[in-house]
Amino acid sequence: MRLSLLPLLPFAAVALAQVPEFHPHGPPPGSWGQGWGWGSGYANKAIYFLENNPSGSSIVSMKISTNGSISNPKRTATGGVGSITLNSTGQPVAADSFQSQSSVFVSGDYLFTVNAGSDTVSMFRIDPHDATNIMLVGSPAGSGGQFPNSVTYSRALNTACVLNGGAKAGVMCYHVDRQLGLIPTGSFIQFSKSISNETTPPTGPPESSSQIFFNPTSTVLLVDQKGSKPGSGHIVTYPIVNGAVTAAEQIDNQFPNIALPFAAVFLDDTRAFIVDPSCGASIFTVPASGHLVQDTHVTIPTQLAVCWANYDARLNTAYAIDVAQALLFTFDATTGALTGSFGPDAIYGGLFDSVISNGLMYSLTATDGVVVLDLASKGTRQYFDLTGFGVRQFWTGMAVSS
Ligand SMILES: *[C@@H]1O[C@H](CO)[C@@H](O)[C@H](O)[C@H]1NC(C)=O
Ligand SMILES: *[C@@H]1O[C@H](CO)[C@@H](O)[C@H](O)[C@H]1NC(C)=O
Ligand SMILES: *[C@@H]1O[C@H](CO)[C@@H](O)[C@H](O)[C@H]1NC(C)=O
Repeated sequence: MRLSLLPLLPFAAVALAQVPEFHPHGPPPGSWGQGWGWGSGYANKAIYFLENNPSGSSIVSMKISTNGSISNPKRTATGGVGSITLNSTGQPVAADSFQSQSSVFVSGDYLFTVNAGSDTVSMFRIDPHDATNIMLVGSPAGSGGQFPNSVTYSRALNTACVLNGGAKAGVMCYHVDRQLGLIPTGSFIQFSKSISNETTPPTGPPESSSQIFFNPTSTVLLVDQKGSKPGSGHIVTYPIVNGAVTAAEQIDNQFPNIALPFAAVFLDDTRAFIVDPSCGASIFTVPASGHLVQDTHVTIPTQLAVCWANYDARLNTAYAIDVAQALLFTFDATTGALTGSFGPDAIYGGLFDSVISNGLMYSLTATDGVVVLDLASKGTRQYFDLTGFGVRQFWTGMAVSS
């Protein structure tokens, strides 16, 4: 197995934004064509991750069976190429190639991803009769900056936004057209050097770009940017004004105990759970003003590098996912208290980008595969070995069909 990866991941990073269960996204109005109607329910589900390959990127989709097991990995080209972040010694990282969360984002039958080596964003539509089939919509759109590594979408605003983490870092947003794809709205919002001062490709984890995400009511767009020491991380917010994201509204939220905000997930309409591998996890209230308030801040004594964030409404539990050991730390989503930890066999190394669906968590592992955990029983349901399918270094992001 690939336990040799562990020393390469001092506090690796992350990635993936999921559609929270409290905020279900049905398919947008309109239909793909005569052949593809809705109504087959969840009979056809799939997980998706990105093969961020500098020679040509693909989305890897895997079928989810009715009992939750995964099978049949297959590739669909994104129309762009990937790029790999560097570690502290200037070498391409062996895994977690973006050091971000949400490099693949699904909402309804839309799927978005990034081409960090092409500086573009790709949009797909998902076949409702076979969720493992995805079709590129239009051509990949320019990301405005360099090294896009996180993407999100608001159905209410019908707007997608991408985070760029390279030498030209910042945010670009798009109107989403079902037939034409991504149409830029407004101009690129470039970060000042005090928010991002990176190269292309970036070096991390410290000071690299982490995640872009909307709050559930789409009144605020948020960006997590890692710093290097307590107080230097940024949670940049853009209150939405007249349906748009504008540089004029930008607020740079910083907190004395936040260094590496790596990944976030909303627990309800106003509270975000943010994971920081330098310490643990915090819950913030996110008002429409964009001025964040820190509600809780919990240090996890036994974490090695918690990076990704996830939430299961059924269990009212938030998860901080450790990249350097095969463990999830669990938090009471109401009080913010640390309640325990569990994970699969240590042989899988650490856990990376993850998504929750129907009580199961699907996680990329340090080894070449995907593990399926039952969150209620805390047992391992399945490990799908992808050795032979592709190169672990390129895999990042994780999303599930609606
Ligand atoms: C950087 O990455 C290279 C190649 O993956 C690895 O050999 C090296 O140990 C890493 N250095 C650190 C400090 O993680
Ligand atoms: C789950 O479904 C798959 C595919 O139908 C099957 O191969 C597998 O044996 C099932 N697992 C269990 C535990 O029933
Ligand atoms: C950005 O990085 C360069 C090169 O390391 C450095 O000289 C400069 O002071 C940095 N700027 C800021 C605002 O940190």
